[in-house]
Amino acid sequence: MELQLKVFRFHPEKDLRPHYDLFSLEAEATDRVLDLLEMVRAEHDPTLAYRRSCAHGVCGSDAMRINGKNGLACKILVRDLRSRQITVEPLLGLPLIKDLIVDMEPFFAHYRAVLPYLVNDEPLPEDGRERLQSPAERDRFDDTTKCILCAACTTSCPSFWANRLYLGPAAIVNAHRFIFDNRDRAGARRLKILAERQGVWLCRTAFNCTEACPRYIHITQAIAEIKNALLNHFI
Ligand code: SF4
Ligand code: F3S
Ligand code: FES
Repeated sequence: MELQLKVFRFHPEKDLRPHYDLFSLEAEATDRVLDLLEMVRAEHDPTLAYRRSCAHGVCGSDAMRINGKNGLACKILVRDLRSRQITVEPLLGLPLIKDLIVDMEPFFAHYRAVLPYLVNDEPLPEDGRERLQSPAERDRFDDTTKCILCAACTTSCPSFWANRLYLGPAAIVNAHRFIFDNRDRAGARRLKILAERQGVWLCRTAFNCTEACPRYIHITQAIAEIKNALLNHFI
């Protein structure tokens, strides 16, 4: 089928402001949006800039706005969009670098702020082996282990658009992953960080994050669990 791909363009050294380029492409219904971008670069304009790596929904590098909604270009098929015109734009709320590429550093700074790693300085069990967990203990945080740090959630959140200092849903998901891990010993430190002015209380339960997540993580529920943990922790 023939379709039109409308692509957000901005070259920081040449353009005063962004514009859109329109490309007519011959595509299959089973092509992914990433395939369309590859087609543009191979056949029309090799200067088009976007990020991609795995092309299989694993690395999280090609999140963008596709027909107005955040998603991974390598996971969304032409047939899913039910339209002969597809618009691709960079994520909102992060500084634009070029075309579809945004600066992820503010996003990763928020991620780092919640101590996204296991903290436990206690001696290992006597046999020197791993700290064992029951299946139920592991299940407690299973959902939030699935995050691939694509930023689709945080950049679809109206609270983040209004206040870029808000830690955002992705950082909270990654805090949840360790707060509810019974091997970890820094839960209280993380909860203190999340209770601060830029933490979870800026979440207004908009649910955009949950809708945007390509890993189907129950983000709003994870945020609610953190809010409950905070209420119980400080009462
Ligand atoms: Fe992406 Fe989902 Fe992780 Fe957010 S929680 S960064 S949407 S994988
Ligand atoms: Fe934002 Fe998600 Fe809360 S979209 S307001 S973090 S439920
Ligand atoms: Fe890796 Fe899409 S390119 S998730």
